[in-house]
Amino acid sequence: MLRRLHDTQPESFAFTPANLDWARAQLTKYPEGRQASAIIPLLWRAQEQEGWLSRPAIEYVADMLDMARIRALEVATFYFMFQLQPVGSVANIQICGTTSCMICGAEDLVAVCRDKIAPKPHMLSDDGKFSWEEVECLGACANAPMAQIGKDYYEDLTAERLGEIIDALAAGEVPVPGSQTGRFSSEPAAGLTSLKEFDSGRTQYNASVQLAVDLGDTVKRIDGTEVPILTPWLDAAKKRSPEAGKTPEAPADRAEGHPVDETGISRQTAPATPKGKPGDPTEDTHAGEGGALGGEAKPVTLEAPRGDGPDDLKQLKGVGPKLEKTLNELGIYHFDQIAAWTPAEIAWVDDRLRFKGRIERDGWIEQAKTLASGGETEFSARAKGAPGDDDA
Ligand code: FES
Repeated sequence: MLRRLHDTQPESFAFTPANLDWARAQLTKYPEGRQASAIIPLLWRAQEQEGWLSRPAIEYVADMLDMARIRALEVATFYFMFQLQPVGSVANIQICGTTSCMICGAEDLVAVCRDKIAPKPHMLSDDGKFSWEEVECLGACANAPMAQIGKDYYEDLTAERLGEIIDALAAGEVPVPGSQTGRFSSEPAAGLTSLKEFDSGRTQYNASVQLAVDLGDTVKRIDGTEVPILTPWLDAAKKRSPEAGKTPEAPADRAEGHPVDETGISRQTAPATPKGKPGDPTEDTHAGEGGALGGEAKPVTLEAPRGDGPDDLKQLKGVGPKLEKTLNELGIYHFDQIAAWTPAEIAWVDDRLRFKGRIERDGWIEQAKTLASGGETEFSARAKGAPGDDDA
């Protein structure tokens, strides 16, 4: 199957503030210079937010990772899990068509999708709420035929039951996932024949289904507000000012981290059209370069160091000779310059360092305030006269 960018694209993409926080935290998992390794989780998060990957979303992620946009396009167009066209605003239904499911009735399920949604995969239903596709084995072969809808598996399906599930989703309900014939998991359809003692005392649903039921969420888009953004490896995230992760250019609904409507779907402005020719991925992929991240302001920079020369920026924890050189090249020579940075200015500098998130992680601002006022930090006392700690 030829995978190309959709012919109709939104003008822009931005992570919600909460998703941006999450994405920035992911970058800190990787060694300096290896942030591109976060490409798949970040593209996936963008897709979870919008339902599909638009060109602005792919380019936004590439810019965030300081990688060539064509590299991000290569990843997005290679993996089938990335949707390159608008999907249903409620759900994209993925029917497993591999051997077990095919033998057990997958073709009947596809027929339901053709009838109720659209005649071809990746087309939107007339009301824009649904799309469907056939996928390879999803690993629930013992409960065939099955479909993945949103984040959950619906198993032991019949054509009739899939039709009911689609109707329920269209009505705003969240049908209980898991086996649709009452199986707890993948035990024999006629009931247990051994290990029967485990049958008593079990909960109503298996753990996956129970979690879905507890959350009441199988198809809702992810805007980052649903789950705690855990960065246990990044203590600085807890200390970050509430302003730090904001993207001022994001639409108001996103800026507040709220879904646009009761479906929980955040807004992306591409008209969701099922028709039309695929776009040309080679055309001007750098359009709009430089504005993707936004929320930045250039701090005060200097042509040259003042007075007695530059401060020894290596006294800041996390700054070694290379980073000091980079900072100097940006026009940053003195502790008092760094001490005065606002969150938007931090974002500007952050975007130009090869290891994003370092400023907050290592607490440069607090350190710089102390050093600018003539004081010493624990690190500077140790570092004086020694080479920088970790960017060499
Ligand atoms: S064949 Fe359908 S889940 Fe494996």
